[in-house]
Amino acid sequence: MVYRPRPTHQPGVSPKTIASILPLSFNLSLGAIALSRKPEGRSIFLKAHMIYLNVAGLSPFKQDVQQEITTTLEQFSRLLYSDEGIHYYRETVQRCREDLAQWLQVEDGQRIAFVPNATTANWLVLSRIPWKSGDQILTTTHENSTVLKEIMALQPRGIHVHTLDPSSPDELETQIEQLLKSRQVRAIVISHVSHIDGRIFPIERLYRLTQSYHALLIVDGAQAVGHIPVNFPDWQPDAYFFPGHKWCAGPMGTGALILGKPFVEPDENDRNEEEETKQPAWAAFELGTQNIGLIAGFAKACAIKQQEGLKTATLESLREEVRQTLSETSGVKFLEWEGPHSPGIFSFTCLDKQTELHLQSKPHNIVWKIFPLPKDLNRTGIRVSWSSDTAKADLESVLTFFQDNY
Ligand SMILES: Cc1ncc(COP(=O)(O)O)c(C=O)c1O
Repeated sequence: MVYRPRPTHQPGVSPKTIASILPLSFNLSLGAIALSRKPEGRSIFLKAHMIYLNVAGLSPFKQDVQQEITTTLEQFSRLLYSDEGIHYYRETVQRCREDLAQWLQVEDGQRIAFVPNATTANWLVLSRIPWKSGDQILTTTHENSTVLKEIMALQPRGIHVHTLDPSSPDELETQIEQLLKSRQVRAIVISHVSHIDGRIFPIERLYRLTQSYHALLIVDGAQAVGHIPVNFPDWQPDAYFFPGHKWCAGPMGTGALILGKPFVEPDENDRNEEEETKQPAWAAFELGTQNIGLIAGFAKACAIKQQEGLKTATLESLREEVRQTLSETSGVKFLEWEGPHSPGIFSFTCLDKQTELHLQSKPHNIVWKIFPLPKDLNRTGIRVSWSSDTAKADLESVLTFFQDNY
């Protein structure tokens, strides 16, 4: 079954998204510049040490990654769109595809398409499904707003969306199986790791269910790849996407979409035509000219991850420390479910308005993510996330801040 591109609206980047990206862009140096006003009205820049606990938002990337981007673009700029340049362009993208396939154990590298970010990948996948009025989508309250927005945009075409809010993996499976049995479910769109509380959704179990009921499984791996083990030696969701700039510590404007069978194999009706003009699977998803510098930087970042390993034990021990300290402080409640959590994320909410207001006015050099709780938009959640490069002293000074204040 091949899904033909159909014209639809472009994925939107809301002003809110831009507002949340802008402050991140200077996190790369991990040195923040704070603007302060002198009494006489002139502005001065003060350098403050930034305690960066928002790796789930964006990871700073390494010098080697920047070098790879620069070298690749310099080389290409010498060759341009000459025969040699086109060869270099194609060879670079293909090599990066193969490197990613090898890391994630995707059998066929041609199933990997490079995309500019996770939101676009989700939109591309949704736009290639021939939806029928009455089709149903299952998703969760834990999806990112930019992904949810594209799902909701299908509603005027007669697509029904069920947003589940399970408290355990078993509950999720039961709810999904009931809906698969009783409704015309076309697709499940779900995160691998929740951006809200770091819970790990049981995607392999869901895959088996969707196979039995002929529904598509579309997985948002934005918080998973480079954070928890992700590989597909013997099974693969119908679509799995992730950006480069989060846990892979790659450049912004990069990402990958791994295509499963329904997006790879030609429809019976199209088979003869497809045989004649056979295109690799990625070709229908990699639109127009790509930035091979960024793609090479992304592949380099993934290669560094592969070489250095995920350092799960280090991340777990930091999580345990955060959890332990917060369990001794009053005024906060953990955001967790009765299932596994990823090691680099910990989230909590405040039990009262006073603590919430106080935490929102935390020292400005601490960077964490504050978000409205999906079930109660008037209440606030706080997500802290770290990598193995996060300085232990930084995490400790945040924990001391809690111990001293709550
Ligand atoms: C789970 C999840 N999906 C998607 C996104 C959007 O990612 P991108 O900026 O790559 O489109 C985010 C961003 O935080 C996320 O956490």
